[in-house]
Amino acid sequence: MALIDLPLLMKDAARGKRSAVTCALKCGNQCAFGPCNHSDNATFRDIASAALSRRAVIGGTTGALAIALGGTQGALADPGTGQGKGKGNGKSGALAPNGSKLRFEAIAPVDYMVDEFTVPEGFGWHPIIRWGDPLFEDAPDFDWNAQSAEAQALQFGYNNDYTEIQEIPGSNGKRAVMFVNHEYTNENIMFPAETDQDDVIEIGMAAHGLTVVELERKNKNFPYSYVRGAELNRRILLTEEFALTGAAAGGELLRTVEDPEGRTVLGTLGNCSGGLTPWGTLLSGEENFNGYFRTPGTSAEDARYGLADRATARGWEATHERFDSRTEGYENEPNRFGYIVEVDPFDPTSTPRKHTALGRFKHEGANVIVAENGKVVAYSGDDEKFDYLYKFVSRDSYVEGDRAHNLTLLENGDLFVAKFAGNSPASEIDGSGEVPADGSFDGTGEWLPLVVDGESAVPGFTLEQVLVHTRLAADAVGPTKMDRCEDVEPSLHSRRVYVACTNNSDRGTTGKAAADEANPRSENRDGHIVEIDEQGDQTSTTFAWNLLMVCGDPAQGDQTYFSGFPVEQVSPISCPDNLAFDAVGNLWISTDGAPSGIGFNDGLFRVTLDGEDRGRVEQFLSVPRDGETCGPIIRDTDRSAFVSVQHPGEDGAWGEQVSFFPDYDGQGPKPSVIQVLPQRG
Ligand code: FEO
Ligand code: CA
Ligand code: CA
Ligand code: CA
Repeated sequence: MALIDLPLLMKDAARGKRSAVTCALKCGNQCAFGPCNHSDNATFRDIASAALSRRAVIGGTTGALAIALGGTQGALADPGTGQGKGKGNGKSGALAPNGSKLRFEAIAPVDYMVDEFTVPEGFGWHPIIRWGDPLFEDAPDFDWNAQSAEAQALQFGYNNDYTEIQEIPGSNGKRAVMFVNHEYTNENIMFPAETDQDDVIEIGMAAHGLTVVELERKNKNFPYSYVRGAELNRRILLTEEFALTGAAAGGELLRTVEDPEGRTVLGTLGNCSGGLTPWGTLLSGEENFNGYFRTPGTSAEDARYGLADRATARGWEATHERFDSRTEGYENEPNRFGYIVEVDPFDPTSTPRKHTALGRFKHEGANVIVAENGKVVAYSGDDEKFDYLYKFVSRDSYVEGDRAHNLTLLENGDLFVAKFAGNSPASEIDGSGEVPADGSFDGTGEWLPLVVDGESAVPGFTLEQVLVHTRLAADAVGPTKMDRCEDVEPSLHSRRVYVACTNNSDRGTTGKAAADEANPRSENRDGHIVEIDEQGDQTSTTFAWNLLMVCGDPAQGDQTYFSGFPVEQVSPISCPDNLAFDAVGNLWISTDGAPSGIGFNDGLFRVTLDGEDRGRVEQFLSVPRDGETCGPIIRDTDRSAFVSVQHPGEDGAWGEQVSFFPDYDGQGPKPSVIQVLPQRG
């Protein structure tokens, strides 16, 4: 047997053992090779002083906003209730923020060695579906010792990340369709040690991709179960044909020997977060796609995307030549990954699409909002140290009820990249994370055009180049280098946009961009959340912004900020990743990396956004050892929440497993989708 050599791969990787495994298998050890962005576009500090005279709109009105919203929502809120004072047990007790029905008493953070899924008192948790669960009538039951690519192709994939559940119309709340993507695989804990390397590769490939699966429940007081063999069930694998859309489709940069037309790609890779469109389709971001390709590594484009002439973690290039772009005819294969993918879960025969109009980079995901003028706006972060925040504005307008038309909206439009300016003196942004004298990290910003009216807006770049080599085009217009934008999620309640900057250990280090007001902490271990308020319509090219929070554990002495909420009353939070909103507009944050930051297992947190408790953070759940909390869905009207637990026990090895979640049957861990709801009886 020749399983992937993890110790070798982990050499030079990140500091903690847990993150080293993640680095090797999820990100291809990108950190070990340094940030991809060596562009010398204007750093934020260069422009901060120029913006001093401009009054920050959000910064200037936060207090007024709080008062205004407090007037309408304060009566519903739990006045003055701090962390740990609530009586919530899911059924009774103090009202939750903004009157949410999901009432709970925040849990204490859980030590990173604990292999338990922890929920508040009065709640229970239920696995809906696990890695290996059979999706179809003819799918075999999972057997740790009899795995095959054929079986895996019919079973739920590995490392569930983005997750969305939509009720099936007419089912009276009893039936739903769930979409889940499968970001990557942890071969070190998936397979018996004697497994043949060719089988490891083929099964691993079949464990990637996407799943659509139907759910059913007795009523909203009962957990969902998945329905084996249901009509909408679907696995989308690396053999599935995806249609390329947008101006780059059919172009020279996307053609290969297998696809001389440059319009059809087999499969999707590195799917991380995503979003639900107003027309009921799912978007999924192709993130760390570079980790699957070996390339010549000689071009500026390769360097900027972290593509190199080195063996990949999984070695697929040894047996599948399209993953080796040094092979004649496959030079452009890596150009066909790194997009936003759209899937219609209600039509199992539909062709999934990759939208070049939203650009190509390490898309964390994309989230859509319909602007006041009817255009569709999609926000997307490029999750890499010092990379950028993007916005797409559709050419055509949303038409309520015309699904066929709306399905085309992400195929053509304008593309922008964000440039932030702070309103505090640069001398007050010293990298410590200490709040400047005006009381806020805040300022204004611009959306710099990359594509306008179907034309490239970047001198020296064709439209096709902008859409395929988006990072390089963006470098040329001077956006702000961010601390790894993960989910970027507009609130349908306030229309404000929230950006999870998960962390950036290189910020402010030698030769790297210094701290700025939008990324104010050097060696940013714990991340922060940016709040954006578009000026006027959502399609505006200017915005105001402020930081909702600078994360960490105040009890450990971390320099933190929670919009002025008392730091001693918040749940410690580190490495924000995925974002969601509940029915009344509270923000929910799931984390990825808290163990290597504050030493606790990752979790799911509720954040009050408005009123006098703005900035209050309450931890709702904690995932088991080595797990990442992904894909949160909040259904507070049903007093229910869902998370995908990714890579539980990734620090283990076959025969030395360190997690047995969720079944605790002594075999090993399985990434799973979990529902949390009040315990009955
Ligand atoms: Fe797959 Fe950006 O996390
Ligand atoms: Ca300021
Ligand atoms: Ca993520
Ligand atoms: Ca992450």
